[in-house]
Order: sequence, then structure tokens, then C-alpha cells
Amino acid sequence: MSGPDAETAAVHALAVRIAREAGALQRARYETELEIASKSRPIDLVTEVDRACEALIVEMLRRERPGDDLLAEEGGLHADTGARWRWIVDPLDGTVNFAHGYPCFCVSIGVERDGERRVGVVYDPLRDELFEAVRGGGARRNGRAIRVSSEDRVQRALLATGFAYDVHDSPEDNLDRLARAVKRAGGVRRDGSAAIDLCYVACGRFDGYWELKLHPWDVAAGILIVEEAGGRVTDLAGGPAPATGREILASNGVLHEDLLALLG
Ligand code: IPD
Ligand code: CA
Ligand code: CA
Repeated sequence: MSGPDAETAAVHALAVRIAREAGALQRARYETELEIASKSRPIDLVTEVDRACEALIVEMLRRERPGDDLLAEEGGLHADTGARWRWIVDPLDGTVNFAHGYPCFCVSIGVERDGERRVGVVYDPLRDELFEAVRGGGARRNGRAIRVSSEDRVQRALLATGFAYDVHDSPEDNLDRLARAVKRAGGVRRDGSAAIDLCYVACGRFDGYWELKLHPWDVAAGILIVEEAGGRVTDLAGGPAPATGREILASNGVLHEDLLALLG
């Protein structure tokens, strides 16, 4: 198999470098005194580390690839010029966990070329686990190829999900699906980092994962990592996974139709 073209390889290498640097910052500030504020809702938090990670990422990207477009969670569209390459960044996915000292959070970096997902990197600094994929080149964890699970029974499947920050007041709260999954699946987890949830599907720790009302930065890296690990990602009706993150079902592929029937 031939490797990626030189520019894709360079973008991938830079995404890995940036993810590791931002992750190192998260690790250094984990369980330290933090400035924490609320955004859309009292439970939608942002810490000074989310902002510091984003500033570091923007700075590195501007220095190394000033022509690329960039969408990042805290600052929004830093650059939107119609460039071929577009970076979609969650500087800290799992902010509520981070703010509480719960050890599950990461940096998520997805890069598109001409609107197509090309590179995905997710770095979990506490476990020192780097998940990565380049389109057509498979998915890896810390350099070793990963694959989705081969579980074919929902009754044995370990699933994951999450809830949007409007869960207190929106009727579309995902609780009906949660109830169905709890009654049918082998187990259901809510770990609080969508990007890590997707990577855990990719490496077979989870057999499936669904969520509603995510954002592009939550899923830009993880969708590619799941697909490159042999999994399937769609919306909850079985159509293409929306890049907006509006709704998502990721699975090992074998279970996908059964999970669509259960959750769709
Ligand atoms: C959140 C996490 C969480 C998911 C939320 C996301 P944030 O991202 O991925 O698992 O349930 O919907 O918004 O705010 O920690 O970057
Ligand atoms: Ca996020
Ligand atoms: Ca975030």
C-alpha cells in the first residue's frame, strides 16, 4: 500500500505534534486550581485550559500553515477563506470531566481537504494514548493498527452515549434511547468525551456509540478514526454522518443495523 501524498503526511505530522503539545498542557494543569466559567447553560463549562489549549493550537497552526482554514470550539471560525485544507479542532473535549478532575478528556483535531475528512488525531494525555487516522491508511493507537470489535449481539455489546448541555430543559434529551439501550445492551457508559467515545469504538473497547446535538469539532477526527478502523458511522436513520455532529451512530459495522433499529 502506498502512503499518503507529501502534503497529507505533513498535515498529519503537524496535527500529531499540535495534539501532543496541547495534551501536555492539559496534563500539567490537571487537578490544579482552575478558572471556570459557564457558556450556553450553567452546566456548559469552559476553563482557562480550554482557552489556553486553543490559543496554543491557533498559534502553532498560524505559524506552520498560515493559509489553512480553521474552525475551533472556543473562538469559532478563526479563518474561513475557502482554503483547500480546513482544521476542525476541539482544544479540550471533556471539559466537565477536566473541571471535576475526572480522568477522561482529550484534544481532537480533524483536518479536511476539499471538504473531505483526510486526517484525524485524538490525544488522551493522561493515558498517553494517541489515536490517529489518515484516509485510506487505517487507524492507529500509539503507532499500532487498531480495529473495531467483532461483537454481533446487542445483548453483549458495550455501548456509549452522551447528553447535550440543554438536557435540563429540552424534550429532545436522549433519555428514551438511553432507556431502550439500558434494557437491551450488555452495558451503557457515559464517559463525557465524544472524541474518546469514538476512538473507543475504533479500538474495540466500545461496540457502539450514539449521541445527538454534537458539534463539528466533537466528531471531525473521530468519524475518520472509526471508519479507518473498519467501523461504520451514520446518522440515526442510517444516512451519511452529518459533519455538523447533529446526530451520530458509530459502531463496529456488524451491529449497525441492529443499533439503528434500537436507537433510530
Ligand atoms: C462535550 C463532550 C461530551 C458530550 C457533549 C460535548 P466538551 O464536549 O464531548 O461527551 O456529551 O455533548 O459537548 O464541551 O467537553 O468539549
Ligand atoms: Ca467537545
Ligand atoms: Ca471542548
